[in-house]
Amino acid sequence: MTSTAPINLDTALASFTETWSPRIVARMNDYDVRIAHTHGEHMWHSHADTDEFFLVLDGVFHIALRDGSGEESSVRLAKGDMYVVPQGVEHKPSAPDGASILMFEPAGTSTTGDHTGAAVPDHIDSTTGHVL
Ligand code: NI
Repeated sequence: MTSTAPINLDTALASFTETWSPRIVARMNDYDVRIAHTHGEHMWHSHADTDEFFLVLDGVFHIALRDGSGEESSVRLAKGDMYVVPQGVEHKPSAPDGASILMFEPAGTSTTGDHTGAAVPDHIDSTTGHVL
């Protein structure tokens, strides 16, 4: 994906309405920059091979985290806040009142990572991102 035109994130976000269905706005080396609308709960998953970067563009976004012993914690991110979920750490994003986010991660990273057990609910798009 090569583009010489600047990308306005507000315009890009306004061009689609689906939640939990990231759009790829740019690629940098082997990484994708993705944006997504979010509302409600995502699902527990982890990414065995990569960290995952989140930046909140609008709203309030939560990420529940679960360590190897099953201990849960969570972070609350407001507009302008960023957070990196470490490789291999189980996480479950949520946005009770809706939020828009930007993610930065290696191209081909699945939104549902390595989820074991539970099927992917209908409201979650298991994808490596869609072209904007
Ligand atoms: Ni993830």
